[in-house]
Amino acid sequence: MTNPLRAVPDRRLEKIAGPSGVVLFGITGDLARHKILPSIYDLANRGLLPPSFSLIGVARRHIENIWDKVTDFIRAGANTEVTDATLAQLRSGFRMVEGLYEEPSTYAEIGRVMEELDEHRGTAGNFAFYMAIPPKLFETVADGLAGAGIARAPEGSWRRVVIEKPFGHDIASARELNGAITRVFPENSVFRIDHYLGKETVQNILALRFANEMFEPIWNAQHVDHVQITMAETAGIGSRAGYYDGVGAARDVIQNHLLQLLALTAMEEPISFDAAALRAEKEKVLSATHLWSTAAESSIRAQYTGGWQGGRWIKAYRDEDNIPKDSTTDTYAALKLAVDTRRWAGVPFYLRTGKRLGKRVSEIAIVLKKPSFLPFPEQAGLERNALVMRVQPHEGATFKFASKVPGPNMKLRDVTMDFAYGHAFTEYSPEAYERLILDVLLGEPPLFPQWREVEESWRILDVAEAYWEAHPETLEFYSPGTWGPAGAEAMIETDGYAWRRP
Ligand code: BG6
Repeated sequence: MTNPLRAVPDRRLEKIAGPSGVVLFGITGDLARHKILPSIYDLANRGLLPPSFSLIGVARRHIENIWDKVTDFIRAGANTEVTDATLAQLRSGFRMVEGLYEEPSTYAEIGRVMEELDEHRGTAGNFAFYMAIPPKLFETVADGLAGAGIARAPEGSWRRVVIEKPFGHDIASARELNGAITRVFPENSVFRIDHYLGKETVQNILALRFANEMFEPIWNAQHVDHVQITMAETAGIGSRAGYYDGVGAARDVIQNHLLQLLALTAMEEPISFDAAALRAEKEKVLSATHLWSTAAESSIRAQYTGGWQGGRWIKAYRDEDNIPKDSTTDTYAALKLAVDTRRWAGVPFYLRTGKRLGKRVSEIAIVLKKPSFLPFPEQAGLERNALVMRVQPHEGATFKFASKVPGPNMKLRDVTMDFAYGHAFTEYSPEAYERLILDVLLGEPPLFPQWREVEESWRILDVAEAYWEAHPETLEFYSPGTWGPAGAEAMIETDGYAWRRP
């Protein structure tokens, strides 16, 4: 007889990656420094990497004392305690390859190091090539890996490639880039990072929608009045002028993060949570999405001027280091979108993002219709019911509804019901990059957008970008610390609404 206890999965066991290594291109870049290396450290420190785990850094020039630098990045960015033991464990599997990305000898050397690691550390031929480099180098690196015969895995092992956004500049360049990658790596070994999907709160959109009975009946055009998706930042562009100028807010985050949030909010229920089922639903809903009307009416972009923000003088975007004085790059963008499905016909989805805004907040607000009849005499000031999913900070969800004010009169006021991760759970939330890097090593693709989603997202955004480019005079300006330009207020006020002030 089988022991019934045996059938119960051991919930204490976390998922641990099997034998593997990461080949990190751009090991001294911003992304490696702030996100990738600290996340790899945290994974190692939590015991989620295999003992064989190895990291091959690739850089174009010689860097003195590279391990000391890696250690500094880890100390500055890790979420867990930095211990000598974990550092030593990572150090023993760390190798460096220096060489130009155009040179075949660089890839021959990477191949040699991979073999050495297979032999001495037991990485078993399993490697992820992480391209933390500018997209213009993706093709060169992919071809270099193919040329050295290391892009394809030997029998019984795997090779994967991890690429970071921006996946192109518009639909045409994205297709070209994708072609260059998929000529070398099959689609199922391409892991495109959209770090918003690695956030717990973003994954919770699915739990909230599909694990509960109470939301589904109202999650449609019959009850939802409109949806507001916000990603506001107080920070500016930091040291990323070279990347940001000419890209702008809409390409930087609407094309990916915000449209992924829209997809998760608006999609139909997938038949399962495996990658194919999830992506099919996201792709379907994105392909039904487009600007509400003309780009002139449904899109706004703006740039911040100089001004005071939180007691500090902030330079205008055009005065930031390495930004041209006549730059027309958007640091704020807002779109009004339509989702042409039976569920959403007639419901506007307003998306906005901006740098140097009044508050750092990312959230999705599902604003419900007003009741068709209210039998109460005193109802002034009542707003529409709203379910707000707070991506960050103060991760959680809030439901806003009307309640009776205590007292002899039937007076009503809006109140809120709140769920906060910090109060409800004692478990820690892994940083998005931690989760995503682990998923790459585990070969679990659900949290990585597939090519068709990327393509549809460019199709949606390209209409606005083309209009902005043809009409440079549409660029508006806003002061730091505010909620953006007047045009964005006007766009939503025309419909009788106001942007939320979270
Ligand atoms: C990145 C953008 O994808 O997301 C940055 O390129 C932005 O411009 C960042 O600042 C914000 O990420 P988060 O996780 O802090 O919301």
